[in-house]
Amino acid sequence: MSTLLHPAWMFVGAQVFSPEISLHLTGTEVPCLESNNFLLIAPLFSPPGPHMQARREFSNCTLIYPACNARMHHVMNNWISAVFSPTGGCSAIATAIAGARMGKRIDLCAPVEPLEVPAWVPVLAVVPVYGGRVPAVAIQRLRALRGQGGPAIAVVVYGNRAYEDALLELKTTLTESGFAVVAAAAFIAEHSIIRSIAPGRPDAADLARCVEFGAAVESKLAQDTPGTVEVPGNADYRPLPQMPATPLVTDACGGCGMCARKCPVGAIPLSNPRSTDAGKCILCMRCVAICPRKARVLPPPMVQAFTARLTAIASEPKLPELFI
Ligand SMILES: Cc1cc2nc3c(=O)[nH]c(=O)nc-3n(C[C@H](O)[C@H](O)[C@H](O)COP(=O)(O)O)c2cc1C
Ligand code: SF4
Ligand code: SF4
Repeated sequence: MSTLLHPAWMFVGAQVFSPEISLHLTGTEVPCLESNNFLLIAPLFSPPGPHMQARREFSNCTLIYPACNARMHHVMNNWISAVFSPTGGCSAIATAIAGARMGKRIDLCAPVEPLEVPAWVPVLAVVPVYGGRVPAVAIQRLRALRGQGGPAIAVVVYGNRAYEDALLELKTTLTESGFAVVAAAAFIAEHSIIRSIAPGRPDAADLARCVEFGAAVESKLAQDTPGTVEVPGNADYRPLPQMPATPLVTDACGGCGMCARKCPVGAIPLSNPRSTDAGKCILCMRCVAICPRKARVLPPPMVQAFTARLTAIASEPKLPELFI
């Protein structure tokens, strides 16, 4: 449990959490100061009581003593991040938002074990937008995380066209899984199918907004009762997109199998990485992006059609939207 604590809080704890103060505030005997991180945790795990609702100002810090474990996230500054990022855009956004608060990382591009998330641990969920929706496999894996009323931050990343129902879908999924969505955002990254759309995004300004957003979320989590947010989207979601093609494999393929090992949905057989299961492929573009021989490519007519369409409707740079 002690590993969940951020070093800054341990310092605050060590400064102000003398045994006398602990006894005064909690009425519970705690281990001596010199022992370890358990010092700060122990009083918070004490049985709830009116004495634990005391709130005190020390130096410039506000310490909140929760009435029960459900309020411990006030002092928890180590977020779980759950990210689906086949080509790296969502990962870059998640890293910038969480910053030093980044704790356990859950890669939604691989199967996820069920996880009960304690109510005081914030979850940062970051997923891409595919056809105005969240990829079904990301939703399915995200559902392995079960909340106990604790806070979640819902973030979608899109390729400068539109995010449509994706943010609402992500928020609804997290809520149904037992989280309280206290903040949300939509950020922009290079379009992973047509990289000339939103090139270089997230850029320095996007990443600065991510940092601001992370700090604003941290402040909100320190409130006594951080409320939930409303996000745009139609509850009657758009239909999931049908992918018109799968990547082609050229003669440059050396059969290394990297694409098969990294495909998020197992659409490339390791025994024959020159083939692709069209029934499984979600056109996430990971195999195209990572192939060391650039042997996986989209069919040229599809590239031309997508480029023309997206250039017409998604060339004007969009700005991040924050809901907090
Ligand atoms: C199959 C597919 C569908 C996409 N649909 C949309 C979309 O509806 N709107 C949009 O603006 N970008 C769309 N994009 C772009 C991605 O949302 C964007 O590039 C995102 O950053 C990809 O995340 P990643 O880099 O973590 O893989 C789509 C990309 C793919 C691969
Ligand atoms: S990563 Fe590229 S070279 Fe390796 S098996 Fe896949 S297509 Fe072939
Ligand atoms: S085969 Fe399809 S789903 Fe698998 S990595 Fe390639 S584009 Fe993504």
